[in-house]
Amino acid sequence: MDLKAYLSSRREMVDAALERLLPADENGGRILEAMRYSIFAGGKRLRPILCLAGAEAVGGDPAQVMFCACAMEMVHTYSLIHDALPAMDDDEFRRGVPTSHMVYGEGMAVLAGDGLLTQAMVLLSDPAETAGLDPSRVLEAAQVVMKAAGYVGMVGGQAVDLASENLRPDLATVQYMHAMKTGALITASVQSGAILAGGDADQVRQLVRYGRRIGLAFQIADDLLDLEGDFDALGKTVGADQARGKMTYPAVVGPAQARSMGQGLVDQAAEIAESLGPQAAPLAELARYIMARTH
Ligand code: IPE
Ligand code: IPE
Ligand code: MG
Ligand code: MG
Ligand code: MG
Repeated sequence: MDLKAYLSSRREMVDAALERLLPADENGGRILEAMRYSIFAGGKRLRPILCLAGAEAVGGDPAQVMFCACAMEMVHTYSLIHDALPAMDDDEFRRGVPTSHMVYGEGMAVLAGDGLLTQAMVLLSDPAETAGLDPSRVLEAAQVVMKAAGYVGMVGGQAVDLASENLRPDLATVQYMHAMKTGALITASVQSGAILAGGDADQVRQLVRYGRRIGLAFQIADDLLDLEGDFDALGKTVGADQARGKMTYPAVVGPAQARSMGQGLVDQAAEIAESLGPQAAPLAELARYIMARTH
């Protein structure tokens, strides 16, 4: 499988769907402009790609879950806008361009995030987008996504992240925090795709195990890239974690051990994906990509 070609064709599909689901509208004013600015600034589209691959892994049609894939990207982009605010990580660059608050001001950046989160809920409950799917699965998927976004997931993890600045690093805290702030949305992406596409309970359970492993590894890789990566490739400031006293895997166990822990997690995830059969082959490749990526 040519992963590079797969990723770029999936990214194009997702971008086209986002353009359809969050179209420019002169009546949308500056708030819609700000929402679209961050959504279309770039980004790997990993969460939507995982949602589509989750559907495929259980024998479903990825096109049927595109609305959910796009909702995942909206929730993720909202989390990035708020993460960069001066009251949080205070970052000036994201996806290679100035952050939302640098362009639109803090108040509008807060609202652009709120607008994207809310739009995700609109999409997940949109009768036109969900027509033809089992309504009980639509409800279940929406529950999975919104729970993962909330205080038991991303928002909860971000709260731990803030509360842990400048504390003595410890592995239990950083593992819990990373699983919540980043692992939850990544797990929900693959899980929701599989639920909507009709996956059975065992398939979904295996995909959750897969998602938890790549989700944690994804944030370990993000920590390593902050330490060792390159601004031009990443499109965001490097060295920011140390400067803010963030609790990260490399701060707790050192970069070499962090890398080997991340690698162990993605190897396990790839094995889980492989056990699900050939339809889950892209998920195995995606798992390996998570530790190999340079941005
Ligand atoms: C960055 O996410 C924030 C984390 C959760 C680590 P991504 O690295 O997926 O950012 P984009 O979407 O590609 O910009
Ligand atoms: C972000 O973690 C996690 C989110 C939920 C947004 P980071 O703060 O490390 O993400 P970057 O490095 O700013 O992208
Ligand atoms: Mg942060
Ligand atoms: Mg940050
Ligand atoms: Mg980071």
